Amino acid sequence: MGNTSQCDFVSILPEWSGSSSAQDNDPVVLTVPGDKSISHRAVIMASLASHDSTLSGFLTAQDCLHTLSIFQQLGVPIHRDGTTLRVSGVGLHGLSAPTGPLYCGNSGTGIRLITGVLAAQSFDCVITGDPSIQSRPMARITDPLSQMGAMIEGRVTGHDTYPPLFIKGKRRLNGIRYPLPVASAQVKSALLLAGLYADGPTWIGESRVTRDHTERLLQGFGVTIHRDESGCEVVPGPLVNTVPDVPLHIPGDFSSAAFFLAYGALVAPVSITQVGINPTRTRFLDVLRAMGATVHIESVAGQTMEPYATITVSPATLHNIEVPPEWVPNLIDEIPILSVLALFASGTLIIRQAAELRVKESDRIQAIADLIDRMGGNVTTMPDGLMVSAGQTVHAFESQSGGDHRMAMSGIMGALMGHVAATIHGVACINTSFPGFFDCVARLDTKHTVSHE
Ligand code: S3P
Repeated sequence: MGNTSQCDFVSILPEWSGSSSAQDNDPVVLTVPGDKSISHRAVIMASLASHDSTLSGFLTAQDCLHTLSIFQQLGVPIHRDGTTLRVSGVGLHGLSAPTGPLYCGNSGTGIRLITGVLAAQSFDCVITGDPSIQSRPMARITDPLSQMGAMIEGRVTGHDTYPPLFIKGKRRLNGIRYPLPVASAQVKSALLLAGLYADGPTWIGESRVTRDHTERLLQGFGVTIHRDESGCEVVPGPLVNTVPDVPLHIPGDFSSAAFFLAYGALVAPVSITQVGINPTRTRFLDVLRAMGATVHIESVAGQTMEPYATITVSPATLHNIEVPPEWVPNLIDEIPILSVLALFASGTLIIRQAAELRVKESDRIQAIADLIDRMGGNVTTMPDGLMVSAGQTVHAFESQSGGDHRMAMSGIMGALMGHVAATIHGVACINTSFPGFFDCVARLDTKHTVSHE
């Protein structure tokens, strides 16, 4: 899994002088760093464009920095100043062979999307990542990319293929029509990017809509994308400058915001400014509303490409729900924090048709169950989901993140929401997606001492 060491932990101690904040306070106003999914895609597309681009709000977390470094190794001049990138795009056919294996760290998005690009290059290369990445299934991309004519080999174990991936140079791919067997934006995006190099259109069918950042951004770079309710089709062609001199702004990451929105729904109002509200990402807000929380959205901007806004969530008496299965792809990364929030609501949270959780940065169904069990909650796992029932009192606990950033943050927020002492081991991995997480925690009036080694 990820990077845990013996002194890599956080201790949380409640201050017994008072309970958590009153519910009628003014909201605590937070900003969260740039969106991870969009940051990866923006670097990839700006690198493949035939012009220079400026990206603002880039997420400077390890996952996205690996993607940036990979494109530098592929010969793309990229200059970073804080969260602003200046990328001198080399065009679709301007990448050069790297001198060694490409390393994408902990990032499933990085390895899958970049493999889609590498499948169409004229040079051979190898791409890999950390131990967690080396245990993540890749047949979902290597099978359809092979149908397009790519030559990719990996480590084959059982019925799947795992990194390192060895990609043989080949310039020409053929377009395919491919209904996605699993709802995965990473697979869709890998194929759309490979489709830029194909000899004809590539159509991806989706029975459940997944995040559509790739489609939006490709359109923003002037690529023809046809979309309807059955899927999307990319027409091969170059990435061009449709809005000269306008920096591409990457909004705050909704999935990072979700940890604090959950706190807002239970403890005291929280506002997050300039956070992405792309509807393929924000089903968690519908769940919060259905549970009884008050959700307010204002200052909407960025509608031409990736919309963002200020989201305020205020507490209420919360009731658990059965999450409609068609919502699952659009809140998949929020299920760990939703499951923890469910401990403090009445009734039972039921999540089904979410087997994809088993192949994330960890087996998240098991990881969530372990965390909730350690907190003293009631949880039942199923092959494709879980149930969390209210009624137990959350108590002091000790847990391990297993190197999974979202599990580490869910444990920490669980202790703060439950007003209990906790020690969470393996928190360095939070930096794969959310640098500044502890600064946001410090801004909340949690009545806890949070000591971070
Ligand atoms: C992502 C897609 C989702 C999500 C991941 C980011 C993306 O994964 O869980 O954190 O950026 O495309 P899947 O495509 O595997 O569902």
